[in-house]
Amino acid sequence: MLFLPRLRRGTRLVAAFLIAMAIAVAVPVFGTSTTKAAAAVSAPCDIYASGNTPCEAAYSTTRAMFGSYNGPLYQIQRASDNSTLNIGLRAAGGVANSAPQVSFCSGTTCTITLLYDQTANANNLPISPGKACAGCSGGLGGPAANGADIGANAMALPVTVGGQAAYGVLVNSVGTGYRNNAAKNVPTGSQPEGEYMLTSSNLTSGSCCFDFGSAETNDSDDGNATMNAIYYGTACWTGGCSGTGPWVGGDLENGMYFSAAGPNPASIPSETGSFVTAWEKNNGTTNFTLKYGNGQSGGLTQAYSGALPNGYNPMKVQPSIELGTGGDNSDLGKGEFFEGAVTTGFPSDATENAVQANVNAAGYANNTTTFSTTASVISLKAHANGRYVDAPNTTTSLIADATSIGKAEQFEMVTGTDGTVNLKSLGDNNWVTADNDGAAPLIANRGGVGNWEVFGLIHNADGSVSLRSYTNQDIVTADNAGASPLIANRTSVGPWEEFDLVQDTVPVSLRAHANNDIVTADNAGAAPLIANRTAVGPWETFDLIPDADGGVSLRSHANSDIVTADNTGASPLIANRTTIGPWEEFTLVANGIGSVSLRSHANNDIVTAPNGGASPLIASKTSISQSEQFDLVFD
Ligand code: AHR
Repeated sequence: MLFLPRLRRGTRLVAAFLIAMAIAVAVPVFGTSTTKAAAAVSAPCDIYASGNTPCEAAYSTTRAMFGSYNGPLYQIQRASDNSTLNIGLRAAGGVANSAPQVSFCSGTTCTITLLYDQTANANNLPISPGKACAGCSGGLGGPAANGADIGANAMALPVTVGGQAAYGVLVNSVGTGYRNNAAKNVPTGSQPEGEYMLTSSNLTSGSCCFDFGSAETNDSDDGNATMNAIYYGTACWTGGCSGTGPWVGGDLENGMYFSAAGPNPASIPSETGSFVTAWEKNNGTTNFTLKYGNGQSGGLTQAYSGALPNGYNPMKVQPSIELGTGGDNSDLGKGEFFEGAVTTGFPSDATENAVQANVNAAGYANNTTTFSTTASVISLKAHANGRYVDAPNTTTSLIADATSIGKAEQFEMVTGTDGTVNLKSLGDNNWVTADNDGAAPLIANRGGVGNWEVFGLIHNADGSVSLRSYTNQDIVTADNAGASPLIANRTSVGPWEEFDLVQDTVPVSLRAHANNDIVTADNAGAAPLIANRTAVGPWETFDLIPDADGGVSLRSHANSDIVTADNTGASPLIANRTTIGPWEEFTLVANGIGSVSLRSHANNDIVTAPNGGASPLIASKTSISQSEQFDLVFD
């Protein structure tokens, strides 16, 4: 009596799974809605269900996650009148109907305020409460009222799916995050769990944490193994990673793991694409598995499958789903999200392959977003007293007391993709922090960058700038007409909060990551630039000159000539020009808060130190890996 129904159900599941796989693999990528109707017969969560690992939470702003789904995908709110609108589908199982969004948001700004769960569990994802919920005080606060997070700009990530316009979730502004802290029917404790998301390497970061998956219900760090989310980015907290990333990892709390020991495999230096599928599954005790794939074509690559890190067995997962932040609401991570699901059970490889084929068949295209993080060297002249801000050492707070610019008045400024900045004092080589969550004066004594080291850069009408501390949202003042240290405790901008941003020309050397050698303008500048010196002398020193367009140029101390990407970038870099034109201009790309790269304005290519640094520098690469990275050395 019991056996027969079970057998029938099993037979049905196998049959449904085979049909789903056949449809998913067979449906070609055509740009017509007719084809989308065919593809809608099988959507990712139909495939997971057929594999006996059903979705318990499934989100997408671009398409249906079930062939039968015909409900709302997400809710937007416009700034002009705070009214909201649900964005649904063109047809059941199809692609988002984004036309109403375009007219609703015309002339105003729209924010994604909710992602609807397409499963029956209604595990919808509102904007994360951050610290603004009972029990959520242990984590990090977001930038909205009471420490809540903010929503993504609804129009900022246009793509097409099967030829139809749709929008993804752009997690770019600091504090963007979504969360459901009472998720129903999702795996908890050490129950097996599967997850995937469709993301992109067009926007990633090395900060914590662009995650999607399970996390703590109190937005707080509850200890190792209390979360199980997909991480995608370039952070390597354990050290020992190979290449530049980004990589798909498991954020298991207090660490993003690309293997049990931490690092990614050396054979996979990065996992990139305009559309990237990211996969994590965890059986709760003995195995977690990480995979990635191209969201437009091809299969999956397994980057790791094996034991959980020490201290993470058994898992202690809580019933919360998050998108865009770390478990404790750490919200400096950046990324793009188009679709994703959380399943019960440990999905089979065949199931994941079929979902991958289904994502490919959906026909994602036209993700044209580009984001770059740039570096420059600046000084700040306070309007309070006309003096320069000074950061002499790790024990003295920043104060506007200098009448001229020396190293203590110079800062390497890294400008993020969202316009926020981090400032590193050239005086003591440490990052400026709004200490004690902004309650104490600014001081340059941090070796790395976290939330207290992030500042919004406000551009004032008179051309000056003001700094807004990210954590307490207060504006930095040169208090007491500049006689007291800088502190972030004002809510509006007056003269004491205004600074002239002075772009500095500074001597600098470049250490190539290709071979760890210093770049020289060889033969007193008569030969091309090459990374083959171990010490800095005049041939290895360049003035870093700020250009009017925000780029930089390099003047060699070997011969006082300007470095050019000669022959429209087709020839190696050489210091033999006396004036600056596009061939002599470079964008100083900041790779997180670490190395920099040079993008030539001659051909828009990245400067590389080829052959492990043995050949001269040339602007010939379209992406950044180890050979295209340099450390700025300020002498
Ligand atoms: O595990 C990495 C991060 O560490 C988590 O996302 C966060 O909760 C903690 O800060």
